Amino acid sequence: MKKELISKVLGVVMGVLPFYLFTLLPLSALAGNVKSPNGNIELKFSVDNTGRPVYEMSYKGREVVKPSHLGLVLAKDKHASKGQKETDLMDGFTIVKEDTKAFDETWQPVWGETKDIRNHYNELEATLEQKDTKRTILIRFRVYDDGIGFRYEFPQQKELNYFLIQEEMSEFAMAGDHTAWWLPGDYDTQEQMTQETKLSEIRGRMKEAVNWGNSSVAVFSETGVQTSLQMKSADGLYINIHEAACQDYATMHLELVDAQTKALTTKLGGGSNAYTPDPKPINYPLPQPFTFVSHLTPDATGLKGCMQTPCETPWRTVMVSDDARDMLSNNLILNLNEPCKIEDTSWIHPTKYCGVWWEMIVGKSSWNYTDEFPSIKLDQIDWSSVKPNGRHAANNEKVKRYIDFAAKNGLDEVLVEGWNVGWEDWANMWKRDVFDFVTPYPDFDIKMLNEYAHSKGVKILMHHETSSSSQNYERHIKEAYELMNKYGYDAVKTGYVGDIIPRGDHHYSQSMNNHYLYVIKEAAKHHIMVNSHEATRPTGLCRTWPNLVGGESARGTEYEAFGGSRPDHTCVLPFTRLQGGPMDYTPGIFVTKLNTWSDNTSWARITIAGSLALYLTMYSPLQMAADLPEHYEQFDDAFQFIRDVACDWDDSRYLEAEPADYITVARKAKGTDNWFIGGKCDENGHTAVVKLDFLDKGRKYDCTIYADAKDAHYETNPQAYTITKKVVTAKDVLKLKEAPGGGFAVSLVAKN
Ligand code: NOJ
Ligand code: CA
Repeated sequence: MKKELISKVLGVVMGVLPFYLFTLLPLSALAGNVKSPNGNIELKFSVDNTGRPVYEMSYKGREVVKPSHLGLVLAKDKHASKGQKETDLMDGFTIVKEDTKAFDETWQPVWGETKDIRNHYNELEATLEQKDTKRTILIRFRVYDDGIGFRYEFPQQKELNYFLIQEEMSEFAMAGDHTAWWLPGDYDTQEQMTQETKLSEIRGRMKEAVNWGNSSVAVFSETGVQTSLQMKSADGLYINIHEAACQDYATMHLELVDAQTKALTTKLGGGSNAYTPDPKPINYPLPQPFTFVSHLTPDATGLKGCMQTPCETPWRTVMVSDDARDMLSNNLILNLNEPCKIEDTSWIHPTKYCGVWWEMIVGKSSWNYTDEFPSIKLDQIDWSSVKPNGRHAANNEKVKRYIDFAAKNGLDEVLVEGWNVGWEDWANMWKRDVFDFVTPYPDFDIKMLNEYAHSKGVKILMHHETSSSSQNYERHIKEAYELMNKYGYDAVKTGYVGDIIPRGDHHYSQSMNNHYLYVIKEAAKHHIMVNSHEATRPTGLCRTWPNLVGGESARGTEYEAFGGSRPDHTCVLPFTRLQGGPMDYTPGIFVTKLNTWSDNTSWARITIAGSLALYLTMYSPLQMAADLPEHYEQFDDAFQFIRDVACDWDDSRYLEAEPADYITVARKAKGTDNWFIGGKCDENGHTAVVKLDFLDKGRKYDCTIYADAKDAHYETNPQAYTITKKVVTAKDVLKLKEAPGGGFAVSLVAKN
């Protein structure tokens, strides 16, 4: 179903321009200057005296991006014989045309944080000609009130038809030694703890920041970091760099130029899937310190992009505000993506689920059915005669127990992992034919269990771990999705654990990004929603493909069983990972000391009230209740909040926010008059002051507050909470004390 577009004329770009009308700037100017609709952001664009494109950006008159070059180094093209330098799309450009446009529309997402999203910007389209090579490229800037996006566009032309990218060289020159919340740049994992340092401290922190233990690691530089990168300047500007609409292109990292940088890509080396050297040195002058330069993920050949014109890069985004809350309510990344391409979206729905999962993650039970074989070949095992290990979780009895629990508590689906053969030697074996995605283990009766679930109004959520054998998945995908259609599954969780097969490729390369999108499109054809783990970090493609309802692409709750994550982790993720789309964080752990019910000595660093808050602060249309049914039954009064909370919204108001400290958000449940509020804080605790002035004036609401008890603490007393009920109106103010590592959750049900 195409969503209704409401477009209107509003924009102001150097005077009032009619909607969609292009104006030609004087050629002699050779520079563009565009302001955002409210004038807060100003973008300047020109070429320098060597013909290198340069842009700069300011916010309320303060420098955000100092003059920064744009361009691409090519691996080789038909002009190589003229000498290497001329072949690059780096310099020798003149601006031959500049067009501006104002745009303002409001669109409705299939699911989201708000019912309506306004897409309001002023645009500059600069046409650049490289005279020596007779090549033309475009650089398009969109200037919003809360940030900018720009991308390179390559029209089809005789002299630029096929080309190979060695590196994209987009610079982001920061105005100072900002505080940054960063993850090590890595071609294969995003499952690290966020580091909080000054830019100048990144190099010194890098080695300890790398998650060397992940099953696929490839770090590339002592100053390489991932996007979305959140920063804060000394004078209180919040700046975020990321990308939007990354398709048929490699995922971008950022490499910081600091006082010690002698050349870009100072190799750190290491990781299971370590770096392939660049084919040629890049000899353009290094920019000033505190400049980030884009660094794309290579494929197995070491190259970063195989392009065929007409084509374009993803948008590079810089968001800015002097109010941290704007970083969270910002829709710039979604707006820079194309509208929904799925005609009928009626089968896409918000989903709350539980699953046969956590007990395997903590090590209490297993994905595999047998321990009999040192290795297996899928087509050589008679599964009916193998000896079960007695620990296999995805068995009929247990799955039925989860289905009963879901049905009783209004959960939509039950994830079952380990249902299909192949888990005996599934990871890190360079095993191409690792799963077939259609053969269940003998103790998982796929027909009976689906019928049982459907009879109770519940669905089973499919699991396809690919073990990163991407071509194996593509070979089986049609059959696998037909099986899902046959039994009535409508959602799949995919996974990409381990180094990519074919060997040498990386999780975030152009080829793998094409694979993830292929999976999403195939799934759409079969009316299947996708939740992808270990896939590339999202860049807002869920606007175009709203069956992409979730993803991991960061350190999720599973790490609470692998040593734990810092309590501030979930106060950073909405500023970083969630910028590109929702995360399947799998919240809801109530029994946080795992050794009270398993041998695992790790523990979750969160209080029960804090766990409830995550259903609000970590926005996703797909929300898991990750703990075991028996743990929820033990705390049934707190579990009531998970039963009640919505996961699709008409409105969202970020009330308080500071990266890595606290986030407080109020959301209005889709199609209702009811609101929910969540507050989550770091290890220091926080007192939230919540004015209820967003409620309907004169109306009364039944308010239930789930709060940390006075003596609650994420480490020593995580299960201490209070539940208070009262009637409130828009005139009330709630003062809510959050314990260290805690939070609160509130439900507000409209009366009369
Ligand atoms: C890692 C995923 O993040 C986790 O959720 C899943 O259970 C395992 N891979 C197995 O596929
Ligand atoms: Ca994972």
